[in-house]
Amino acid sequence: MESSNSNSARFRTQIANLSMPNPTMLASGILGISAETLLEVAEAGAGAVVTKSIGLKPNSGYPNPTVIQVECGFLNAVGLPNPGIHKFAEEIRKLKKLKVPLIISIFGFSPSEYAEVASVAAEAGADALELNLSCPHVKGTGSEIGQDPGMIKLTVKAVKNRVNKPVFAKLTPNTAHIATLAEAAASAGADAITAINTVRAMAIDVETFRPILANRFGGLSGAAIKPIAIRCVYEIYEAVNVPIIGCGGIRTWKDAVEFMLAGASAIQVGSAIALEGLSIFSSICRGISAYLERKGFRSVNEIVGLAHKK
Ligand SMILES: Cc1cc2nc3c(=O)[nH]c(=O)nc-3n(C[C@H](O)[C@H](O)[C@H](O)COP(=O)(O)O)c2cc1C
Repeated sequence: MESSNSNSARFRTQIANLSMPNPTMLASGILGISAETLLEVAEAGAGAVVTKSIGLKPNSGYPNPTVIQVECGFLNAVGLPNPGIHKFAEEIRKLKKLKVPLIISIFGFSPSEYAEVASVAAEAGADALELNLSCPHVKGTGSEIGQDPGMIKLTVKAVKNRVNKPVFAKLTPNTAHIATLAEAAASAGADAITAINTVRAMAIDVETFRPILANRFGGLSGAAIKPIAIRCVYEIYEAVNVPIIGCGGIRTWKDAVEFMLAGASAIQVGSAIALEGLSIFSSICRGISAYLERKGFRSVNEIVGLAHKK
């Protein structure tokens, strides 16, 4: 995609010890459940891929409807369906030929369970772990752990003590002070912060009078949450000194640049893939490249956090 050497040097992005050909990543939960689709996403131009969140045991998730389209976005409560890490390790092993970093998203119902899942994932070949401390619709995990700074610290520490791989903490916007959550993750040794997961939300059918999602509550993603995510990244950048991976409503190169100016070193794309297809990664990269050229920047890293300069 980025053919000339100067262009590839301009785009290279480093998060902890991971070297990415460009700053775009696949967000967790979108196409990330099989080796085939992850390879396809990398082939389409993503700079790194993140899997669906995987837990210790197989889980079938919630009954339908689990995902609906709403104004400016999607509402989902899929319930973390996954085959369990021992089964999923087979998919990880099939990804040896992946040319970009493989980040395994994991969840657990206690710090030690996160650590156990992380250790199986690392053994199977994960390049990094992203801790889902932010799913807004499953009891006992995700944001129920990730809204409590003390639990974030215990969870990040447990995983860091167990595996020798970079650990990303994915945070929830469903909190009064996301910077406090980021400080907890950073103080426990998180190598990067991913922000944000979905915003807790719901929709009601006016004909049947019933909540539409089978789980009633779900998470809002897509364009509607972008300004919330930008604000979160901006606040986190002011609070901690670890790289930030921005996520939430990114559909165009302009959205991606906005996140970088707020402080993100890399960005993740989720919902927009349903609207644009996989060509979104190369079109975002082409747009960022033209922007850097137009503004006279030598490297994508030069724009990270620029909105904070007085
Ligand atoms: C259908 C669906 C499933 C998701 N599953 C996960 C998941 O398993 N783990 C996770 O950390 N985030 C999950 N997310 C959240 C996304 O990774 C992302 O944080 C969120 O959708 C905001 O980005 P977007 O607006 O680009 O979609 C999911 C989102 C959607 C729409």
